[in-house]
Amino acid sequence: MPRSNDDIRESVATAYASAVTQEPTGCGCDCAEAPKGYTSDELTHLPEDAIRHSLGCGNPLTYVEVKDGDTVLDLGSGAGIDILLAADRVGPNGRVIGVDMTDEMIAKANVNIAAAGVTNVEVRKGLIEDLPVDDESVDWVISNCVINLSPEKDRVFGEIARVLKPGGRMLVSDIVVENLPQALRDNQFLYNGCVAGAISESQYVAGLEAVGLSDVKVKNRVLYDSQQMESAIDDELDAVQKESDRCCGPKGCVESHDVAESLVGGIWSCQFSARKPAGV
Ligand SMILES: C[S@@+](CC[C@H](N)C(=O)[O-])C[C@H]1O[C@@H](n2cnc3c(N)ncnc32)[C@H](O)[C@@H]1O
Repeated sequence: MPRSNDDIRESVATAYASAVTQEPTGCGCDCAEAPKGYTSDELTHLPEDAIRHSLGCGNPLTYVEVKDGDTVLDLGSGAGIDILLAADRVGPNGRVIGVDMTDEMIAKANVNIAAAGVTNVEVRKGLIEDLPVDDESVDWVISNCVINLSPEKDRVFGEIARVLKPGGRMLVSDIVVENLPQALRDNQFLYNGCVAGAISESQYVAGLEAVGLSDVKVKNRVLYDSQQMESAIDDELDAVQKESDRCCGPKGCVESHDVAESLVGGIWSCQFSARKPAGV
């Protein structure tokens, strides 16, 4: 029987609760050591725990001109790396809101917010499919390796359009895949590991355009070779399950090496930008 959207979200939440309460072995979707996409300058100012528990696949703040006084919303803020960086960009006159569904992630983010000594950041518990955020209230929506985990991506895109102010902008880093074999698509470990729930680049663009966002663009792509792919999958599986290198689903287990081989050329990390038209 197909699993319900709530079942899928529960499995994802359990995986990320476990990821943040154990000693991290990697840093998420695409790296084995320091999180990719961040400058050493950015990272030196952050609490070590926010860096070690980073599970992203890019730096969504790279291409955005977030300025003093802006309000930034981070979907699936995790342990807090991007909300802390955004807090610095918006300054004391701005505001940063993170939303996450996993209590353990929110607790970790709150520890990191306190350690960073910032007062313009809050994390709200909620779903990215039903954001606890007012209509037209934020200047920026950012997100890092999260929307692939949603079983209802069209609802997430609709929520982005709802909460952005007219003229507000979005910058999302996420994993995209082309032609994922059905056996891998059905594997919940690979789903929790940011692979099996991912959609294609063109589906992403179409989903954002369908909710009325404009200037939808791909700003950057990071392709993986077979070795990087295997190490990324291992890191992700280490984070979301206790055993590494085997992903077991209803149809048996697959080795991360074989998964990596079959994904090469068909999976990458992508940064999308979009804007909510002014006066809509
Ligand atoms: C791969 S981690 C990324 C965390 C953070 N963005 C980062 O870069 O470190 C995914 C995060 O999204 C959260 N998440 C996944 N699906 C969600 C949903 N449907 N609603 C709210 N949070 C969700 C998880 O709890 C987890 O903290």
